[in-house]
Amino acid sequence: MNKEEARQRILKLREVINFHRYNYHVLDRQDISEAALDSLKHELAELEEKYPEFITSDSPTQRVGGKPLEKFEKVNHVSPMLSLTDAFSWEELLAWEERIKKLIPDENLDYFAELKIDGFAVSLTYENGLLVEGATRGDGKVGENVTQNLKTIESIPLRLNEDSGINIKGRIVMRGEVFLSKQEFLRINSEQAKKGLQIYANPRNLAAGSIRQLDSRVAASRKLDSFFYNLVTDLGQKTHEQEHEIIEKLGLKTSKFVKKCENLTQVKDYIDDLENKRDSLPYQIDGMVVIVNSLNLENRLGIVGKAPRWAIAYKFPAEQATTKILDIQVSIGRTGALTPFAVLEPVKVAGSTVSRATLHNADEIKRKDIQIGDTVIVQKAGDIIPEVVEPIKGLRTGKETFFKMPTICPMCGGPVIRPAGEVIARCANLNCFAIQRERVKHFVSKEAFDVEGLGEKIVEQLLEEDLISDPSDLFELTVGDLEPLERFAEKSSANLVEAIQGRKKVTLAKFIYALGIRYVGIQTAGLLADYFGDLKKIETSSEEELWEVEGIGGKVANSIFRWYRNPKNLEYLEKLNKHGVSYVKEEKTKELEGLSFVITGSLYSMPREEAEDLIRHKGGKASSSVSANLNYLVVGENPGSKLAKAESLGVKIIDENEFLKLLK
Ligand code: IVH
Repeated sequence: MNKEEARQRILKLREVINFHRYNYHVLDRQDISEAALDSLKHELAELEEKYPEFITSDSPTQRVGGKPLEKFEKVNHVSPMLSLTDAFSWEELLAWEERIKKLIPDENLDYFAELKIDGFAVSLTYENGLLVEGATRGDGKVGENVTQNLKTIESIPLRLNEDSGINIKGRIVMRGEVFLSKQEFLRINSEQAKKGLQIYANPRNLAAGSIRQLDSRVAASRKLDSFFYNLVTDLGQKTHEQEHEIIEKLGLKTSKFVKKCENLTQVKDYIDDLENKRDSLPYQIDGMVVIVNSLNLENRLGIVGKAPRWAIAYKFPAEQATTKILDIQVSIGRTGALTPFAVLEPVKVAGSTVSRATLHNADEIKRKDIQIGDTVIVQKAGDIIPEVVEPIKGLRTGKETFFKMPTICPMCGGPVIRPAGEVIARCANLNCFAIQRERVKHFVSKEAFDVEGLGEKIVEQLLEEDLISDPSDLFELTVGDLEPLERFAEKSSANLVEAIQGRKKVTLAKFIYALGIRYVGIQTAGLLADYFGDLKKIETSSEEELWEVEGIGGKVANSIFRWYRNPKNLEYLEKLNKHGVSYVKEEKTKELEGLSFVITGSLYSMPREEAEDLIRHKGGKASSSVSANLNYLVVGENPGSKLAKAESLGVKIIDENEFLKLLK
């Protein structure tokens, strides 16, 4: 490739990369894989490295800057970046309209309503189409030059769209909001917690914290997004609605949740509509902005102090509530990290009931001075996960207790360590998270509660997000809990919740098996269920009584007995009970009464577990070991050594067909 060819290739690559960037980041349309796009960017970077004379400031390679800055330069805004007056009720909206109608009595007012994104306000300046400056709001008059950080945001074009029919010569200034999705907010906070770094209270703080960084690699590592809503430069727009249209044509991202309204009643309807949609939006909003649509009227209404008369922020009700901390427990993450969380007296926050809230780590508890027994303010951070804001110290009774990080892992009994200088305490037993995960997997497995759609990845996610710590917590999950998680759309969240709720009652044998008592497999669980018929009776049995059950040996009896003597297990049973998880009396029939079966190899008509269930259901006994008093050995495909053993003992051997006949 000669120099001219390289130049041509560079131009083409930029065009193609920019086209896909726009589709993906502005239009939310993916038409090429991320890997393919990366590969194109890589090629571009290599060519530019070879021919640095072709690098331009709008090249996609220039989105991440070089060295961190020493400090931010100051920027004078061409016109002040305003703030908004708040309204908290319909009455306040009406009062606002009344105020402005007095100033322009004979004008017909129409409005433009849009989301108030919980982000960080920024101003962009383009010169002859090229992004030359990005600034924070600062005090409204003077902000900071954060161009390099804003350039890392892929939804912000480095060059305005040239063929929109809009004249992009000269200087164009527009304003909008930089924000993070709820999902990205959660991801970053959990990373921060792991590293013992600052936890951000809401997406706005996090967006601000990302943009006000001297090293642009930080912003680049966070998936920041943007919406623009205000065109400062006069490009012929007559209404606020047209500002949105022009901004969109220039290639920036605008919100789709906007509506031109003929009157305030329509505004109210739209506000109500979006308040209902609020939880399902992928990013946080804290209200709606209502603006007088005509720019001419805006001018006539003017500004008082720092806020315009022609716009108002309608704020949604605060998503906070107060409740009591009943206990502080810890959950164990994949790397063994112990994360404390508050067990709360259930309380309604933002439409859903909250009964636990993450506390991130021990330092965070100390910093907020949270004690067990405290009455606390809880809120949904970014409408997402509940968190404890602060204790109300005036309500303390003196009976509150301090949280102490356990020295022994509550999950596995392994030692808990907290290396000097680290904020995170960890269980030193590397298998610990695995134990927890396996316990849940066991509980939802086919032979146990048989919950569909709960694969290993999802179980891990639920544990890691502190949404569950043991299987009983599954029954408390709501669609709202699941939706913010990766891979969970609204539909699949609803499906999973439904699947779980539909499995609250199983047979006693399955219930016992699901408890995961050592040495109690499905066979043994079946024996126990048949013999006792009631869970309480097993709990109150002595070790000797358990031993009396045919087929149960000393080791198993001891294990069951000891399981019931562990208060944690009783608590767990209580929790299951509280969630309405229980067993149904199995109406057993008598066709196979007194007969014992062992199945070897696999059957065509059903999985082995199901066949064994059927045997038990019909009054028979399904066991796993062949002995002389076994009645039938059922032989399926690829039988094991049991076949030879049964033959040598003279046990009756039948095939699948004969077995099915017996079942009928
Ligand atoms: S209009 C003249 N529209 O809210 C007022 N603001 O309290 C310009 N905000 O600083 C703001 N979404 O950071 C407007 N759709 C929206 C907004 C919005 C979020 C923020 C913005 C502003 C603050 C005003």
